[in-house]
Amino acid sequence: MEKRVLTTESGAPVADNQNSATAGIGGPLLIQDQHLLEKLARFNRERIPERVVHARGSGAYGHFEVTDDVTAYTKAAFLSEVGKRTELFTRFSTVADSLGGADAVRDPRGFAVKFYTEEGNYDLVGNNTPVFFVKDPVKFPDFIHSQKRDPFTGRQEPDNVWDFWAHSPEATHQVTWLFGDRGIPASYRHMNGYGSHTYLWTNAEGGAFFVKYHFKTNQGVRCLSAEQAAEVAGTDPTSHQTDLLQAIERGVHPSWTLYVQIMPAAEAADYRFNPFDLTKVWPHADYPLRRVGRMVLDRNPENVFAEVEQAAFSPNNFVPGIGPSPDKMLQGRLFAYADAQRYRLGVNHTQLPVNAPRATAADNYGRDGLMATRNGSRHDRNYEPNSYAGPSQTGQALSAALAVSGRTGTHPAPAHVKDDDFFQAGELYRLMTQEERGRLVANIAGSLSQVSREDVVERNLAHFHAADPDYGRRVEEAVRALRED
Ligand code: HEM
Repeated sequence: MEKRVLTTESGAPVADNQNSATAGIGGPLLIQDQHLLEKLARFNRERIPERVVHARGSGAYGHFEVTDDVTAYTKAAFLSEVGKRTELFTRFSTVADSLGGADAVRDPRGFAVKFYTEEGNYDLVGNNTPVFFVKDPVKFPDFIHSQKRDPFTGRQEPDNVWDFWAHSPEATHQVTWLFGDRGIPASYRHMNGYGSHTYLWTNAEGGAFFVKYHFKTNQGVRCLSAEQAAEVAGTDPTSHQTDLLQAIERGVHPSWTLYVQIMPAAEAADYRFNPFDLTKVWPHADYPLRRVGRMVLDRNPENVFAEVEQAAFSPNNFVPGIGPSPDKMLQGRLFAYADAQRYRLGVNHTQLPVNAPRATAADNYGRDGLMATRNGSRHDRNYEPNSYAGPSQTGQALSAALAVSGRTGTHPAPAHVKDDDFFQAGELYRLMTQEERGRLVANIAGSLSQVSREDVVERNLAHFHAADPDYGRRVEEAVRALRED
């Protein structure tokens, strides 16, 4: 094998990588030692800002294959034919902790998929939970502040976590989910994924349908108990990363079956729940799951920093036939992600190999900025319209137009017949077996009992009572018993 020569960044051979150059033997360093200067300076710049949430994650490549005809509902080209395959990249993550946090913790998991379609990249940036804690994006920074490390103590504080929930009754559904059995997945392979929000599909005739996405794991759902998780997190902090990496290296390719719930757009206004409220699900009895296809992960990234840390998913990356619903949370996210990525990675992050389109090419008049690699040639104009056959608009909307009414203002989301903050939390509790309820109650009590202020405890207990009297009573008894200890 040909011997490789170590070089500087400019490609010049390096004479010595063990001893830096000095003025005489034992003297001070020489500024002419380019290799040393470059090496130290580059090392100082290895870190970039971590994601403000979902900092810790793992990624893998794979493909999506359509198994069922959904052309009646969407004109998206990558879903146009049974058997059609589209390359994709996924990133799974925990939410609250920093890049160095442990994997096996009680926390939602991110479930982000980038489909490299021939009509551009479609990013579906979801979680392993079908609902979320809040329903208005203006609450998101406060929510995250309350869940991440406290600015004074530098730790996650039960006081902050539960104080936020005390003032956010709409979180009761997701809190019930989080403290239940599914709150700590055994691995990324053993959890479902959800788009969580409602999205808008549009078919070739302009017909509009609201949809919710469900990725069901074909590995089976497996979770850890609080005790198991404490042990795994302590002994193997990278447990999820290791599991995903090694499974794919072994040729055991994890897969998920994608289903959608489909609501004709005309049914949205009178549905018993606000279909754009992220704290609610659509019961399957109302809108059954319909199979769409299968996602398989079969290739690990070659380099975690280049492909996983620099991966950029944005809920605003849609393709023809798929668009946003008026869900306020989703609308807020349409701004937040690309903005975060312009800060974290720079304006040209879309040109990085993991983020650039693969089945088509970006062709527009965006130019320049830090680290531009795709910037046009002498034949390309940088303005539009032009007389030089540059790219031009299609005049075709990606998705159907939705009607709106009323006045501008800071309105709460419209309430539908069954829209209270507790009914669905109670339904979830009532679905659980006695054993599941016991673990849920113990998990909540273990955390809530650590709160220092009685009024914050009381407010939270009131939410569980409102969800279901038995639920409230049991949590209250368990919390009181632990606080009296
Ligand atoms: C208004 C509410 C929300 C805001 C403002 C928000 C904001 C953000 C931001 C700024 C990032 C970091 C992006 C980056 O640096 O690349 C992020 C990551 C992420 N968020 Fe959200 N988020 C919100 C709600 C949600 C919800 C409801 C979900 C799931 C349904 C979700 C799933 C994710 C995932 C999976 C990631 C990590 C993506 C990746 O792997 O790179 N977020 N979020």
